[in-house]
Amino acid sequence: MIDRPLPAPETYHWGRLGPCLDHYAVMGNPVGHSLSPEIHAAFARETDQPIRYTAELVPLEGLAAAVTAFFGAGGKGLNVTLPFKQEAFRLCRRPSERARVAGAVNTLWCSSDGVFHGDTTDGAGLVRDLIGNHDTGLAGLRVLLLGAGGAVRGVLGPILEERPAAVVCVNRTLSNALDLGRDFQGLGLVEVCDFSGLAGREFDVIVNGTSASLAGRLPPLPDGILRKGGCCYDLVYARLPTPFVQWGMRQGASLAIDGLGMLVEQAAESFFLWRGVRPRTRPVIERLRRA
Ligand code: ATR
Repeated sequence: MIDRPLPAPETYHWGRLGPCLDHYAVMGNPVGHSLSPEIHAAFARETDQPIRYTAELVPLEGLAAAVTAFFGAGGKGLNVTLPFKQEAFRLCRRPSERARVAGAVNTLWCSSDGVFHGDTTDGAGLVRDLIGNHDTGLAGLRVLLLGAGGAVRGVLGPILEERPAAVVCVNRTLSNALDLGRDFQGLGLVEVCDFSGLAGREFDVIVNGTSASLAGRLPPLPDGILRKGGCCYDLVYARLPTPFVQWGMRQGASLAIDGLGMLVEQAAESFFLWRGVRPRTRPVIERLRRA
């Protein structure tokens, strides 16, 4: 890690070298809102890594062709975002163990023999943000996860690795939660229930992995399930506090935050996988927060 102030963005020029720089990209649909190009440009400046990082809009049926063309043209690494994480996993011949468990990848690279490798860095990003930036370890705590879709699958393994006292996954559709519990059986004890099963329970940390925030909605949470002074973490990030973050504040959370820190931390994990260099994340998180 290089410990010095970040240069201002405008002092770092790709110049005429641009097309020759190692090319990385994020593929998604939509992708115009993605902060990844800005985040990776900041990492590149700070670590003096000469890379180019772009956002690529990929047609819904076009991921396989786009990935093959990208690496065929010499691309060095890809991030994959909604709605392609599961499909990207299926394209990988060599997924990491944590990607295999999650059934999803957000980071891809191609070895010299043309084989696609993949990893999922979302869960590591969440845990790093909680521990490194908010001093909130999960060991010995009671953790409630809301949702049973791709977002929860991406973070559940790393959460279990932190050895919480209990992990409960609650989902609107119980059968999806049961599937999740079955798939993660080997990694630790995960209790599953629907929202009616939360009455009378109490948790130290509640992580919202539903897509409800994207629609400006709040999952049907009963009052009183968050320990006073507990933590609420929304995997979604937004300019204004999400309905879940607002709920956490009303319930007396000492920490109620969205997923901006996780976004930057998972990007740093990807950067490290590709470049072998770990960038500083805090200045980037702070800059994005201010913006
Ligand atoms: P992602 O990849 O973002 O996780 P997903 O796989 O479609 O997206 O999963 C969305 C999750 O949010 C699911 O757990 C979904 O619950 P269901 O399995 O019942 O569909 C949950 N979800 C979406 N909107 C919700 C809402 N308004 N209240 C509660 N849960 C919601």
